Amino acid sequence: MIDQILIAIDGPAGSGKSTIAKLLAKKLRINYLDTGAMYRAVAYYLKMKGYSPSEDLSEELEKLKIDYKDGDLYINGIKVGEEIRSPEVGKLASDFAKIQTVRERLTKIQRTICEKGSFVVDGRDIGTVVLPHADVKIFLTASFEERVKRRLKELQEKGIQATYEQVAQEMMQRDEQDSSRSIAPLKPAQDAFIIDTTGKTVEEVLNQICEIISRRVKCE
Ligand code: DC
Repeated sequence: MIDQILIAIDGPAGSGKSTIAKLLAKKLRINYLDTGAMYRAVAYYLKMKGYSPSEDLSEELEKLKIDYKDGDLYINGIKVGEEIRSPEVGKLASDFAKIQTVRERLTKIQRTICEKGSFVVDGRDIGTVVLPHADVKIFLTASFEERVKRRLKELQEKGIQATYEQVAQEMMQRDEQDSSRSIAPLKPAQDAFIIDTTGKTVEEVLNQICEIISRRVKCE
């Protein structure tokens, strides 16, 4: 029997990471950690305090208390909510995520959280940097058009108004920034399984991942 299993799911915006990671964790009855939510929450907090990514953030980051309890994220004791899910905060998160001090702090916190049990962790650098020894590494992709459509649908469901063109532009900028940054850029780990989710249902992708990990844990 395996005591702990760590599954890394990386990929660009709109690749289906969060949906798949959440469902997979449920199916395996293990924890889910959304590292994108951490970058979003920290960026939102720093911006609210008047900081920009070009400033020295080390002192503020040291004071910052980030907790993760029962799937919820807390910044200085306050539960993080839907306010971090807007496209603006997504862009802000990508801007702050380029900064070394931000990445060092969050990587450390993510590793500490994952020491406590079995996790499905989604992000950009989980298989390459945060958990290079993860048991299974998945890298999800999808065509640009499909990713934009998915993100647009997600926003509409939340009542956030946006056009295809706006979402496409935001996604292109974020893809470029996340993939080209010098520290922990978005890229598949050498030992990651790359899955193109274009035209596939959530169920199909989940089954494919379960097949990959079935030798280590039981998917029901
Ligand atoms: O997955 P998301 O869209 O919620 O992530 C928001 C931004 O956070 C993303 O554009 C880049 C950054 N991020 C990162 O740099 N590393 C991670 N592991 C997760 C997110």
